[in-house]
Amino acid sequence: MEIVSILVNIIIFLSTLFSYFLITKHKKSQRCIAKLPQGSMGWPYLGETLQLYSQDPNLFFASKQKRYGEIFKTYILGCPCVMLASPEAARFVLVTHAHLFKPTYPKSKEKLIGPSALFFHQGDYHTRVRKLVQTSVSPEAIRKLIPDIETTANSALESWASGGQVISVFQEMKKFSFNIGILSVFGHWESNYREQLKENYSIVEKGYNSFPTKIPGTAYSKALSARKRIREIISEIICQRKEQRLTEKDLLGHLLNYKDEKGETLTDEQIADNVIGVLFAAQDTTASVLTWILNYLHDNQKLLEAIKAEQRAIYEANEEGKKPLTWGQTRNMPVTYTVILESLRMSSIISFTFREAVVDVVYKGYLIPKGWKVMPLFRNIHHNPDFFPAPHNFDPSRFEVAPKPNTFMPFGNGVHSCPGHELAKLNMLVLIYHLVTKFRWEVMGSESGIQYSPFPVPLQGLPTKFWRNE
Ligand code: HEM
Ligand SMILES: *[C@@H]1O[C@H](CO)[C@@H](O)[C@H](O)[C@H]1NC(C)=O
Repeated sequence: MEIVSILVNIIIFLSTLFSYFLITKHKKSQRCIAKLPQGSMGWPYLGETLQLYSQDPNLFFASKQKRYGEIFKTYILGCPCVMLASPEAARFVLVTHAHLFKPTYPKSKEKLIGPSALFFHQGDYHTRVRKLVQTSVSPEAIRKLIPDIETTANSALESWASGGQVISVFQEMKKFSFNIGILSVFGHWESNYREQLKENYSIVEKGYNSFPTKIPGTAYSKALSARKRIREIISEIICQRKEQRLTEKDLLGHLLNYKDEKGETLTDEQIADNVIGVLFAAQDTTASVLTWILNYLHDNQKLLEAIKAEQRAIYEANEEGKKPLTWGQTRNMPVTYTVILESLRMSSIISFTFREAVVDVVYKGYLIPKGWKVMPLFRNIHHNPDFFPAPHNFDPSRFEVAPKPNTFMPFGNGVHSCPGHELAKLNMLVLIYHLVTKFRWEVMGSESGIQYSPFPVPLQGLPTKFWRNE
């Protein structure tokens, strides 16, 4: 018996050794055979950054794809980078091989949002915090928010119509989505905090895309100080909750109540970074898509009529809007829903994302060297005629059948995909319901075009006038 077990151990040892050599040899040979993707790197250091920024970035990507295919290399913002323009390649990076690619953001942006925010992390910590965020914006949680979203939408619409002025839809939609962000993070709480948070938040935002320097007076350094003040406000709220032993079901409550197997809780720093992160992720995204929806509906009066008919029927069933919207009703707005999906596709406000290879990776014979950035190009996939025929036509009916798998990723894909997607859609459905049943609007700008802020939005945020229907 002794001998047998020794023999078995020796065999196990040898086969492990053998497979180790086999794997490393295989890896080496893979690296030798694999070649870098095609593409030009442009001038050293500056790379193709100038080209990317001196024209519509979508043209840049599209012309590259035409020339080199689904995978090509380039050099932007000082980083060698592989761009991926096919659903399979995006799925490889974001889903099936997500562990080989880590999120990567400039340090200056990480500092403004907060280094412990979940976007910046991989592995255990990310999974744990992500679960808390997911729970706080799950369908069970957000259905309870409908009355508050209705109130927020109504008071926004009333204020746009009562002023009688031309307003920037994007700026106003930002306020609307911020208020709902606050609601899902903090639940109901004193409004003086809300105003303080809002003011300081808009300072942080201005710094987010400005040149990162600590020289006093610059947008970036002002943003850092505003962030500190937000952090203090959040600490104060946390303190109050701990004192009053409040156990709320909002995101802050979930973050405060969290305990791992060993009984460890999250630090106040980790909580604050994630609160700021979620508010950040929720605001401009939702606001840009809503602005595009109003723009597309204004340009497609037939569609607007169809949406009006759909929403009018619900409004009447709810006794001229006297009864509140139900969760079931928001799940049954097929025309409005396809308009939202088509707006997400057409505008593709998150045109691409970044990851960084943590080891040498080989994809379809192409080498992606360790440390290189990879960019799945969502917009190119959403505008590829193979997946979306006549991609530049606004045609919601294309969503009457489900898109091919992994071709539609307005909320990303895989471990870092958007946990807030149901909340985002609910906000849009509720706002559209109140908008089209009680108001009308006219786009005022004579120029049409796109500005990058940094998400694409219609020029000047879509200057528009609103009226309440008599
Ligand atoms: C129309 C509105 C929205 C769009 C288009 C959108 C889109 C996205 C996309 C594409 C990602 C993945 C980014 C990547 O893979 O690099 C993402 C992540 C995220 N989104 Fe959204 N989002 C929207 C609204 C929201 C809302 C309302 C929330 C609030 C709960 C939210 C919270 C987040 C968070 C926390 C992440 C990071 C997830 C992680 O790293 O695990 N988003 N979003
Ligand atoms: C920012 O937050 C602080 C509290 O930390 C508050 O006193 C201040 O009024 C807020 N707004 C601005 C613009 O600083």
